[in-house]
Amino acid sequence: MISTTPLGQDDRASWERLFAGYNAFYGRTWPASRYEIAWREFQRDDRVHALGARLDGQLVGITHFLVHASTTSPDVCYLQDLFTDPDARGRGVARALIHSVREWARQQGCDRLYWHTRQDNHTARRLYDQITDNHDFIVYAVPLGGSDNAGAPVTGDASTREPDSQPF
Ligand SMILES: CC(C)(COP(=O)(O)OP(=O)(O)OC[C@H]1O[C@@H](n2cnc3c(N)ncnc32)[C@H](O)[C@@H]1OP(=O)(O)O)[C@@H](O)C(=O)NCCC(=O)NCCS
Repeated sequence: MISTTPLGQDDRASWERLFAGYNAFYGRTWPASRYEIAWREFQRDDRVHALGARLDGQLVGITHFLVHASTTSPDVCYLQDLFTDPDARGRGVARALIHSVREWARQQGCDRLYWHTRQDNHTARRLYDQITDNHDFIVYAVPLGGSDNAGAPVTGDASTREPDSQPF
């Protein structure tokens, strides 16, 4: 039986393990200090929010999300991160997390919930395609130096630049 709840202090270590797994999936490694900053933000539950999924009492999935204004509708909810423990995959954990974020966003009065994924993330897309349609947008992102992850200034021929591993 899967349950989804906000994260509490007891989840700190498991959350970091899962978030580190998510970062590794995107080729990122973070120092411990950065996890601490993120954890404090999620515990504040003000600008960004987190939910965890439990299976038999173990934290096996996490999602991070936020609400932002829209120029064309009421506020919208952006689901930024989603990760499930490799040992718990294919059992509906991610589906349960998306469902809970959708309900949360609905209660906040959001107009819609949306997220991005890589074109070639076929595993994730098998799930997403069961939930909603993709809107066929592509994403451009310019690093601005505001984080450890930010790259060099964007110059030169775009075709020769390495893609940024930061999803958003
Ligand atoms: C994508 C991810 C979050 C899916 O998590 P999950 O808990 O396994 O997903 P669910 O069990 O809720 O998935 C349900 C559906 O997705 C599909 N699916 C997910 N994982 C699958 C797998 N390993 N093999 C086959 N189908 C799979 C199935 O269609 C399944 O539906 P069904 O059982 O009704 O057929 C997980 O694989 C993951 O963390 N991947 C690495 C990080 C990532 O890609 N995050 C998303 C970035 S946008």
